[in-house]
Amino acid sequence: MAETLRPERRLLGACARIDQIEQDAELAACVASQFSSVTPEIHLKWNSVENKEGQFWFGPVDRLIAFAQRNGQRVHGHALIWEQSTPDWALHQLRRDGDWGLVERHIHRVMGRYRDVIGDWDVVNEPIDTQNGRNGLRRNTFQQVFGSNYIERALETAHEAAPQARLLLNEYGFEYDNYVEVERRAAFLSLLQRLLDQGVPLHAVGIQAHLDLGKGPIPARDVADFLQAIADMGLAILITELDVKERDYRATIAERDMRVSDEVRRYLDIALTQPAVESVTTWGVTDRHSWLQVERGDQVDPERFGSAAPNRGLPFDSDLRPKPMHVALQDAI
Ligand code: XIL
Repeated sequence: MAETLRPERRLLGACARIDQIEQDAELAACVASQFSSVTPEIHLKWNSVENKEGQFWFGPVDRLIAFAQRNGQRVHGHALIWEQSTPDWALHQLRRDGDWGLVERHIHRVMGRYRDVIGDWDVVNEPIDTQNGRNGLRRNTFQQVFGSNYIERALETAHEAAPQARLLLNEYGFEYDNYVEVERRAAFLSLLQRLLDQGVPLHAVGIQAHLDLGKGPIPARDVADFLQAIADMGLAILITELDVKERDYRATIAERDMRVSDEVRRYLDIALTQPAVESVTTWGVTDRHSWLQVERGDQVDPERFGSAAPNRGLPFDSDLRPKPMHVALQDAI
C-alpha cells in the first residue's frame, strides 16, 4: 500500500474503562496495541472520584494510568467540570452556598494528584447551548450560580493547580449543517475569542465529533473554516470523542460498516487537512462495550440482529475484529 503523503502521523487515542479492560483480555490487548493515548471514559469525572462527599475513589484512575504507562501511552484528562457528571451532593451544595471553594478544591485535588502524568485537561466540558442557553452558553448549575464567567474561573483555577498543563474546553455538535450546529460553531468561536481577549489560560480545544448518519452531509467548507478560525486563535485542536451514530438496522452489516467508515473518511478528510488538529480519539473501541448502545437505550432484538451489537459506530466489532472504520482511521492519521 502506498505510504501516506502526510509528513507526520497523528496520535490515535481511545477512551477506555479499566474495569472493562481488567475483565476482558481481548479488549486489553486491543487497547494496548492499537492506540497511543487513552482517555478515562468515566473514572476522572467528579461523580466517579467523589461520588459521596469526602469519599475519594482514585483507584480506577490509578489503574488505568498504570495500564497506559505499561503500554507507553499518554493519558488525556477528562473532564473536570461537567454538569452531567457532577454528583448530586455537590450540585446541591453549589446551589445552597454558591461557594467557588468547592469547585476549587475539586480541581486542585484531581489535577494535583495527576499533574505529573496528565498533560492535557478538559477543564470545562460542553459549555455551549444555543437553544436553551444564555448568550450561547449552557444554563447549567455552574452558570446559574457563578454567572457565565464560571468558565474563566475554572480555567484560572486549573492553571493554578497545574501551571504546566494544557487546558481545553471540550464541546460537541459542530459537524453538520442544520441551523443549530451552525449557531453552535459561532457561539463556540465567540466564547473562545472572549476568553483569549481576557488573557485566560486556554491552550487547546477538544472537538468531540460524535458523527451521525441521520444528520445529513457534512458541510466541508464550513467545518474547515471553523477549524481554521480556531487555529488562527493559536489554539491546538484535538478530536476527542469520534464515533458514528447509525440506525438503519435493516441494512446488511457490510453496508452499515461501509457507511460508518465513509462518514469517518469524509470527516477526517476535512479535519485533518487542518495542521492544528493533532490527535484523533475514538469514544470507545469496540461494539462489545460501546456507550452508543447503552446511552441510546437501543432495544436489541435477538431475532433480528442476532448477537450483533445494534450500533456499529466504533472501529472494532464485538469480536474485536477491525472494521472498515479502523482502516479509515489508519489511512487518515
Ligand atoms: C459518557 C460515557 O461514555 C458513559 O459511559 C457515561 O455514562 C456518560 O458519559 N460526551 C462526553 C463524555 O464528554 O464524557 C460522555 O461519556 C459522552 C458524551
